[in-house]
Amino acid sequence: HEAEAHRTDLMTITRYVLNEQSRHQESRGDFTILLSHIVLGCKFVCSAVNKAGLAKLIGLAGETNVQGEEQKKLDVLSNEVFVKALISSGRTVSLKAILLGFVDPVLLIQLGRHVLIWIQSTSQCILVSEEDEEATFVDPSLRGKYCVVFDPLDGSSNIDCGVSIGTIFGVYMVKDKDNVTLDEVLQPGKNMLAAGYCMYGSSCTLVLSTGSGVNGFTLDPSLGEFILTHPDIKIPKKGKIYSVNEGNAKNWDGPTTKYVEKCKFPKDGDSPKSLRYIGSMVADVHRTLLYGGIFLYPADKKSPNGKLRVLYEVFPMSFLMEQAGGQAFTGKQRALDLVPTKIHQRSPIFLGSYDEVEEIKALYAAEE
Ligand code: AHG
Ligand code: MN
Ligand code: MN
Ligand code: MN
Repeated sequence: HEAEAHRTDLMTITRYVLNEQSRHQESRGDFTILLSHIVLGCKFVCSAVNKAGLAKLIGLAGETNVQGEEQKKLDVLSNEVFVKALISSGRTVSLKAILLGFVDPVLLIQLGRHVLIWIQSTSQCILVSEEDEEATFVDPSLRGKYCVVFDPLDGSSNIDCGVSIGTIFGVYMVKDKDNVTLDEVLQPGKNMLAAGYCMYGSSCTLVLSTGSGVNGFTLDPSLGEFILTHPDIKIPKKGKIYSVNEGNAKNWDGPTTKYVEKCKFPKDGDSPKSLRYIGSMVADVHRTLLYGGIFLYPADKKSPNGKLRVLYEVFPMSFLMEQAGGQAFTGKQRALDLVPTKIHQRSPIFLGSYDEVEEIKALYAAEE
């Protein structure tokens, strides 16, 4: 009977956020609306990713983004979906037409770049996306009180070979709604209200923190709902896995080189750590969060600030790691204390199990 009751008491992400909402009276449901836009965007991208091969949504879009990366079709489509889903565009492609698109991949391509998922929203005022050079300022008449920073499609190099990819997002509360400037999003990550990612892998998993712990939800395609499957995730204090692109070893600095050496040739009789590196931050971080261990994207001689972007990769993942009992360190400071000066600024990052990051901090401290 217990199992029966459990199965029918479905905790969906919407119910979870509403419960959370009741803890922040002042938000009057706006946060739930915001989250519903992000969740819808994730459902859409999940479906597009699952059909990518069939709907010819793989390959290059023929454009290059501000990062100097060749944009993939799914980078562009995902970005359009999130930007449009987060701003009430006033123009509508009926949801029915979109759902039809899911049925007929050809229609999905036609809808592709012009899919406007229109939801009357008054909850955003600034958007920062990896794929857009400038921040998007929502029209004052439609302005809400949240700023959303996001990486619409993380791990693009893995799209065409069907390896897990994802979406990463972070949410700030706007400080001065009547005088919105870029400073609203050039805040340290510790000021984020919420952060999360959606991983499009063997299942579609959305991991979210609204500041009181971390919860994982899995999309049940038959219901079209994200169901709570990983309540109150805590990262193991230690881990047996390290995750880094060893191909950059030639350019690493001293502390990183020493730490990775220690993983491979441990002094104190420990067994060596396993190396797992997928190349999609969302997938590498998700495994680290659940299994423990450490993920590193260090600085190197070629890129002194590393590769990962502060606002929509480093901050959200660091926020989640700390909420799950882990740590996130830039090589110089606690990642969430960093104050960004540019929206696409990069930073080195070492995140994961508490004790593993402690070891790296000690190596950098010894270097000073
Ligand atoms: P994106 O696809 O959003 O540009 O991000 C790619 C990032 C991140 O997902 C991953 O951890 C890292 O690039 C992998 O970089 P390398 O291929 O240099 O290891
Ligand atoms: Mn990219
Ligand atoms: Mn990314
Ligand atoms: Mn990306």
